[in-house]
Amino acid sequence: MKLLVTGGAGFIGSAFVRHVLAHRPEMQVVTLDALTYAGNLENLSAVQDNPRYTFLRGDIRDGDAVNEGFASGRFDAVVNFAAESHVDRSILSPDSAIDTNVRGSARLLDAARAARVERFVHVSTDEVYGDIPEPLEADETYPLKPSSPYAASKAASDLLALAYVRTYHLPVIITRASNNYGPYQFPEKLIPLMISNALEGLPLPVYGDGLQVRDWLYVDDHCRGILAVLERGTVGEVYNIAGACHLPNIEVVKRLLTIVGASEALITRVTDRPGHDRRYALRGDKVARETGFVPEVAFEDGLARTVKWYQENADWTARIRSGAYRDYYAQNYAWRSSEA
Ligand code: NAD
Ligand code: DAU
Repeated sequence: MKLLVTGGAGFIGSAFVRHVLAHRPEMQVVTLDALTYAGNLENLSAVQDNPRYTFLRGDIRDGDAVNEGFASGRFDAVVNFAAESHVDRSILSPDSAIDTNVRGSARLLDAARAARVERFVHVSTDEVYGDIPEPLEADETYPLKPSSPYAASKAASDLLALAYVRTYHLPVIITRASNNYGPYQFPEKLIPLMISNALEGLPLPVYGDGLQVRDWLYVDDHCRGILAVLERGTVGEVYNIAGACHLPNIEVVKRLLTIVGASEALITRVTDRPGHDRRYALRGDKVARETGFVPEVAFEDGLARTVKWYQENADWTARIRSGAYRDYYAQNYAWRSSEA
């Protein structure tokens, strides 16, 4: 089986490429990635010499680049990770999220249709459901009510993908996962940012009261879930991939401080995210029933592994933090600087 993996140089995409090459000896992988600020070939260095792996640089918004990607082989399946994935960046400047996540996904769906692929897994997010009030957990029929430009752009791409199933019989399956964490996550997201700051003795900026609840999913579990859906999911269906680990942000920060061995005095309350969703919570029973997938990595283990990886790969973080990331960090945190 030959797979086209878009966004394969990012956090989850690169974990998926490593996972597939390690666990499916019959599969070949071509990665198509624009190498935006979040794309990093270092994330794929472990597989760069694998004869079953090829990297192509290309932007999913660019029809020619997408067509060239499809022309590089006869693909059985596409797994679409490529996206502008950060909520705060989409709030500061929504255009990139709309362009890549909506228009880019549409380019890709068109090309996959022309290439007559047998499967197209569109990787989406629990954020499309918006806030989930306690004690509910969203199943796949829960109404879409996205809060941020990022979440709305992902919901739009989900709806486009489902329209391509209905109108063109394109064999799309959608996955909606909860918050991922693990090695190689770009240090703008909560867990890698807090670990990196704690390791350097810098303030840990907790938004608002820190009581917002997220459901944490170790990245390798997410990759196993996507592969299960690719291999055993039903075309036209949506599958939630949950971590079954609901925690308030402040609790996550305190737990990682304990593992790092840094002081809670580093925690700094800052101005909240506009439109901040209070709680995400997913039901993951459909994917378990239909594909057999259940998450395996307990949060304590996953967090300890993640902290260890950031301790051992401080140079990876330092290279990112010394680049254009500095401007984003300054812009995002300047206006949050007042105590909440
Ligand atoms: P990431 O930001 O780490 O990586 C995104 C990758 O996509 C990068 O390699 C980047 O270069 C590439 N990319 C961006 N725009 C592109 C374009 N126009 N053309 C080609 N490549 C482009 O993101 P991530 O956290 O790995 O997320 C991957 C996918 O999973 C996204 O679709 C995201 O919405 C979804 N998702 C993420 C999470 C999470 O917690 N991180 C949870 C659920 C779903
Ligand atoms: O739920 C899935 C989503 O998880 C994915 O679709 C997104 O691609 C991914 O970025 C992530 O979105 P979040 O907004 O939940 O992730 P983030 O790491 O930015 O924030 C997690 C929580 O932590 C959120 O409630 C905001 C809070 N936070 C975040 C940062 C960066 C802070 O309190 N301080 C921070 O500095």
